[in-house]
Amino acid sequence: MKHADLIIRNIGKLVTPRPYAEPLRGKAMDDIIELEDAFVAIKDDTIIGFGKGDGAAYHSNHTTIHDALGLLVTPGLIDSHTHVVHYGSREYEFEKKMRGVDYLQILKEGGGILSSVKMTQDASEKQLFKQSKKSLDIMLRHGTTTVEGKSGYGLFEDTELKQLRVQKKLNDHHPVDIVPTFLGAHALPKSHEHKREAFLHQVVETMDKVKRQDLAEFVDVFCEKGAFTLEESTYILQEAKKRGFKLKIHADEIEALGGVEMAVSLGAKSADHLMVVNDMGIKALASSNTIANVLPSTSFNLQSAYAPVRKMLDHNVALALSSDYNPGSSPSENFLFTLNIAAIHMKLSPNEILNAATINAAHSIDRAHEIGVIAEGYKADINIYDAKNWPFVLYHFAINHVKDVFKHGKLVVKDQILIQE
Ligand code: NIG
Ligand code: FE
Repeated sequence: MKHADLIIRNIGKLVTPRPYAEPLRGKAMDDIIELEDAFVAIKDDTIIGFGKGDGAAYHSNHTTIHDALGLLVTPGLIDSHTHVVHYGSREYEFEKKMRGVDYLQILKEGGGILSSVKMTQDASEKQLFKQSKKSLDIMLRHGTTTVEGKSGYGLFEDTELKQLRVQKKLNDHHPVDIVPTFLGAHALPKSHEHKREAFLHQVVETMDKVKRQDLAEFVDVFCEKGAFTLEESTYILQEAKKRGFKLKIHADEIEALGGVEMAVSLGAKSADHLMVVNDMGIKALASSNTIANVLPSTSFNLQSAYAPVRKMLDHNVALALSSDYNPGSSPSENFLFTLNIAAIHMKLSPNEILNAATINAAHSIDRAHEIGVIAEGYKADINIYDAKNWPFVLYHFAINHVKDVFKHGKLVVKDQILIQE
């Protein structure tokens, strides 16, 4: 038996998905492990054991003991769709939206994504780093230990690369891990309204630089009325695939253009949004390993439809949940609140929600071999909540119940306070 550096002991309830090599789908999404009076043993950054009792067999004179005070423990949460690196905010559009001006209309007028593009273009790397670091700090304090982060507020090469460089630097300097995605085709710049094809070629040229500089692992595209057509989105994802990127898509947020089926056919890791997904989209998802990554905070904030998740689960789809944190449609880093909304508005069960925000989220960013579960051999990313059970966290809404957070075996949040290096 190996000796642990750290044992988290006196866990009142430990809740974790089982480590499945494939995404959980349909009914299996309600399956979870629950242990009472448990421990987790950790060596370096890795879990070496867990179970009932106090883990005495892993103990040595050098082992640190962390008392979980009889509280709830889960794996660190994984927010697998965010636009965390951007500059500025858009509260001035908020009022307009509340008066009923719709999202695409604001974009058409040069606002929306395009106004965040302007602010991000004008920001220095230092400013961008500072704002994004603050967001990551908030995420971590709310129990998010890994995020996916997209570019897409540059559109043109300079700023796209700037965003991705800043993100890489954050990844090196912040406990939260960031899985990087290039989203050059997020919106069409005003200057290219009549030069769509030229813009798309430019995006592909930037993609080459992104690859060469190793700045992203995934490529994403916004396939939507007012953004990019099915044909244009197909072109972007095909070019990305040729270059060895893994794929994601923003699809079926406002209209179903066939982007989901296309992304599935190209083997995308996830198709995201899906508020208006139709039967064809659901069928395609059900017969693939592409994860349906749904974003309840966005529906809440835009006061639009929620993705039909119960129907998707009935059809055996694999589901993940993410915050979509961005300055327009989801300006909140609080992933726990996303999960509250999923419980209230999507009628997902507590087990389904935890699986969607951990193991399936890990699958959607291709990290399921190392994070998303508490099991031997997995990274020690672990949350302790000031709560007795997981349903309480979902029911007692809009409160940060996360007390302590371990990232790779290191205590990074203690009693809700970030431990700065
Ligand atoms: O995922 N839908 C496209 N992109 C973002 C919104 C970006 C913005 O409004 O700034 C999203 O919701
Ligand atoms: Fe998004």
